[in-house]
Amino acid sequence: MSDKHIVIFDTTLRDGEQSPGCSMNTKEKLQVAEALVELGVDIIEAGFPIASPGDFEAVQAIARKYGDQAVICALARCREDDIDRAAAALQDAQQKRIHIFLATSSIHRQFKLKMEKPEIIAKTIESVQRAKALCDNIEFSPEDAARTELDFLCEVVEKAITAGATTVNIPDTVGYATPAHYFKVIDTLIKNVPNIKQAVISTHCHNDLGLAVANSLAAVEAGARQVECTINGLGERAGNAALEEVVMALKTRYDYYGCDTKINTTKLFPTSKLVSKITGMQVQRNKAIVGQNAFAHEAGIHQHGMLQDRSTYEIMRPQDVGFTGTNLVLGKHSGRHAFRDRINSLHYQLDDAAFEQLFNDFIVLCDKKKNVYDADIVALIEHRATERTDLWKLVRFQASGGTRTIATATVELQFGKQTPRIGISTGDGPIDALFKVLCELTGVQASQQDYQVRSISTGEDAQAEVHVTLTHSQQTFHGLGVSTDTLEATALAYISALNKIAGSEPGE
Ligand code: KIV
Ligand code: ZN
Repeated sequence: MSDKHIVIFDTTLRDGEQSPGCSMNTKEKLQVAEALVELGVDIIEAGFPIASPGDFEAVQAIARKYGDQAVICALARCREDDIDRAAAALQDAQQKRIHIFLATSSIHRQFKLKMEKPEIIAKTIESVQRAKALCDNIEFSPEDAARTELDFLCEVVEKAITAGATTVNIPDTVGYATPAHYFKVIDTLIKNVPNIKQAVISTHCHNDLGLAVANSLAAVEAGARQVECTINGLGERAGNAALEEVVMALKTRYDYYGCDTKINTTKLFPTSKLVSKITGMQVQRNKAIVGQNAFAHEAGIHQHGMLQDRSTYEIMRPQDVGFTGTNLVLGKHSGRHAFRDRINSLHYQLDDAAFEQLFNDFIVLCDKKKNVYDADIVALIEHRATERTDLWKLVRFQASGGTRTIATATVELQFGKQTPRIGISTGDGPIDALFKVLCELTGVQASQQDYQVRSISTGEDAQAEVHVTLTHSQQTFHGLGVSTDTLEATALAYISALNKIAGSEPGE
């Protein structure tokens, strides 16, 4: 790898998954891992195996399936059983890394670890050596590095490298750093750690001050060659550095940084959509790179400039990030050929049977809405993809409500090939009535944590996208539904979440 290559270390499945309400099951993690491989990330941090049997299983499954296409990494504290568990989960990966961490800042030493500096050094050496005996590729993170005394940070990093660490990650665990400060931290390590050239310096920035991406770029400027980041900036509290922003900043400002990544940027938008769909964490409309408005030019003066020459106001092209926003594409009279072309350009591969099914869905949609946008087509594809594994299917429903009337919902559901079931419920509004009758019919008792609705394109006939988050046995489950009818989208979202719960219950 050239000295100018930036290693992209994705931690969506570990740090990202740690954010409240974003937990994923193994099947969902495998879907994200596949998208990350297609995106071209160098390293996938797949989880924290000691945390739970589910975490172990997910890391193991990802290691087995994708360990030949990316380096699969597992996290461990500086404890023997953590390290051994990480190594066991990674056993079948062709390319693997163990990532161990230990806090070094005075605040963490005093209040969390109750350890003195020499004990921290000893623990670091002992743990890196233990991990090194099990895996060649070792990353060490002095947790809360950005608040650690610089001389002590240099000492820990030097010892970790001597013990065998091949990457030293410098986390800004609490999002305290600012770009100039973080630059200085990395620069100090480069200038003062005698063996620093034997390891790659990595950044890991949290976004509490909204500076995670800026800090990561400052670190690259100082000489860091790995960036840890997550899709959509997912992560604890305000999140981690957003992968899509870091990558596009490096690509767009190649003139300045002179650094590249091996990310296929046309996959950024679809990957963002997938992660948002699976975690239920929606992307704000004006989010850089992957927000729905990221490429919208509303102001007349901008539109005028754009018509003369796109470069007047556009620093990236929507197609560079695989953006499938509101660009008008097809209508009722578009033939199969044009539809197939459009699907290919959206980077989906469908076999003939799936294509025919989708084309029929498209024709039905064209009857309901005049303009069909790329986002509508993506929603159709995603809906079909989830439908194949669903257990319960909506046959028909009716829901009504209003002032001084009793809100009711009547639903017919079918489970596989069994005789359909019909149920009716009243509720505090039609959505509540729908939720109650669906729980009753599926026999799944869940409580609702979140409900969000938004339109996926523009115009009065735009399709509604509903996200719901349900809780069951202290776990969260997300469901997504799309339809031109908001109540139907709601029913579909509930059914998709209830199906996930039903599928997760032992013996079902
Ligand atoms: O933020 C942090 O310090 C971490 C470490 C485990 C690297 O996530
Ligand atoms: Zn973190």
